[in-house]
Amino acid sequence: MKLRPYKSSDLESVANLFTASVHGLAIGHYDATQRAAWAPQPPDLSEWNERLNGLHTVVAEDNDNELAGFLSYAMNGYIGLLYVSPRYPRRGVASLLYREIESALLLAGVEVLFTEASVMARPFFHRQGFLIAEEQIVSRRGMTFKRYAMRKSIKAGR
Ligand SMILES: CC(C)(COP(=O)(O)OP(=O)(O)OC[C@H]1O[C@@H](n2cnc3c(N)ncnc32)[C@H](O)[C@@H]1OP(=O)(O)O)[C@@H](O)C(=O)NCCC(=O)NCCS
Repeated sequence: MKLRPYKSSDLESVANLFTASVHGLAIGHYDATQRAAWAPQPPDLSEWNERLNGLHTVVAEDNDNELAGFLSYAMNGYIGLLYVSPRYPRRGVASLLYREIESALLLAGVEVLFTEASVMARPFFHRQGFLIAEEQIVSRRGMTFKRYAMRKSIKAGR
């Protein structure tokens, strides 16, 4: 698995991976109507372009140069998107992406990382040392979703 920065030619692959991830991995956590609201098919590429433009994105590629996952973040410590391909569940792809950006943000002087974790991603972030700050209910395309605002202090010595 290799990591590299996102480039604009990745747009369609990233949007497709997101869609496949929600519909393939999140099955046990969200019903079909929720998944359709979360990840409409086909994905809207102009919406995705806008979403990614505001964030830094790192992608993970397998040995065939196929996208295995991506993570998008902001320099204020916000982790906005983290999705892994259904071809690579529980194979450490998200951990690899996470470690990369945690190191980068630590070097940049960021002291706190924060995210809004899905019900599915909560154990992953917990494993990385994040704590739940708040349980939230959000609405997307008419459906409600539970999510968790989570934070992790990465300041050296804490
Ligand atoms: C959540 C997600 C990003 C995790 O990716 P992953 O590459 O499978 O995660 P990793 O293999 O790096 O997992 C590292 C550890 O996190 C925890 N973890 C990850 N997924 C888990 C799950 N579904 N249930 C329980 N613990 C989990 C485990 O402790 C795991 O270690 P282990 O496999 O040795 O037990 C992935 O399942 C995904 O894309 N889900 C669908 C979309 C989603 O909810 N994205 C997050 C939006 S906020």
